[in-house]
Amino acid sequence: MLTPDLHVNVGSLRLANPVIAASGTFGYGLDLDDFCPPEKLGGVVTKGLSPRPREGAPMPRIAETPSGMLNAIGLENIGVDVFCRDKLPALRERRAVVIVNVFGESAADYVRVIEHCESEAGIAGYELNVSCPNVSAGGIQFGHDPRTLEELTARCRVVTARPLWVKLSPNAPDLVGTARAAAAGGADAVSLVNTILGMAIDPLRRLPELARTFGGLSGPAILPIALRMVYEVHLALPELPVVGLGGIESGLDVVRFLLAGATAVQVGTATFRRPGVMLEILAELAAYCRDQGVERVATLTGALEARDA
Ligand SMILES: Cc1cc2nc3c(=O)[nH]c(=O)nc-3n(C[C@H](O)[C@H](O)[C@H](O)COP(=O)(O)O)c2cc1C
Repeated sequence: MLTPDLHVNVGSLRLANPVIAASGTFGYGLDLDDFCPPEKLGGVVTKGLSPRPREGAPMPRIAETPSGMLNAIGLENIGVDVFCRDKLPALRERRAVVIVNVFGESAADYVRVIEHCESEAGIAGYELNVSCPNVSAGGIQFGHDPRTLEELTARCRVVTARPLWVKLSPNAPDLVGTARAAAAGGADAVSLVNTILGMAIDPLRRLPELARTFGGLSGPAILPIALRMVYEVHLALPELPVVGLGGIESGLDVVRFLLAGATAVQVGTATFRRPGVMLEILAELAAYCRDQGVERVATLTGALEARDA
């Protein structure tokens, strides 16, 4: 029986398989260990880390929606120092592939987080969350303006030789423009997508369901949008590796993203429903490859057939 090779290379980063835990849905890597040991995955992306700990947004900050959920967590996190001191050693011991998700209110904040991590072994790379306001530029999100994004990426590029991924915002007015800017700034790959801005209303109380009114939509509801965005960026920039995510719940969903042009994928919201789902997804992916005679999963990237008109 065929044993498919699940390895993928995201730029220079070689992963044992293409399924990575998405930021904010897998804690700091070991929180769901009983269900999903992090070393079994292609990698784990940490909850977004800032230079100092943050408390996050007021409650309620989560709302269930048809085929998805809204969140406005407000980027609560323990801060990079505590992560490196209390969480990283165990991940390093387990040989998990750790990608640190980085955010800040200024470019200097991003640089600070990366510089702090640079002295630590056991970090495979960084993912910049650029869906947050640039306080020093009037609050416009880093990921919404290609020029700002290129500058931010370039400043982070200078301080690390490790793989650097930029997680693009699906709310940006010019998605391909931002992907191009990330590449020009020196990114090794782009992840897409982050959550899509939405809101939910309680009709009986006549109130927004989230304390912050708006939140980020995730889960199966956004899969077709994410797939289209991965496809568009891959078509425009075929040399730039794309890590695809948004609503993935099954091995076949992974195949969909790979065919659209992704090199690897991340799984987020699905883990809240079934904490062991990524192991199931890996088994389904291997079964798909066996059934379809796919020897190397990497050959699926961008292998979408053209439809006869
Ligand atoms: C509760 C929650 C917290 C999140 N926190 C982060 C974060 O800290 N940094 C980040 O880049 N993305 C964060 N995300 C976005 C996810 O990583 C992912 O991009 C998004 O949820 C879409 O994937 P999914 O549909 O598989 O969940 C968060 C998502 C959720 C639901």
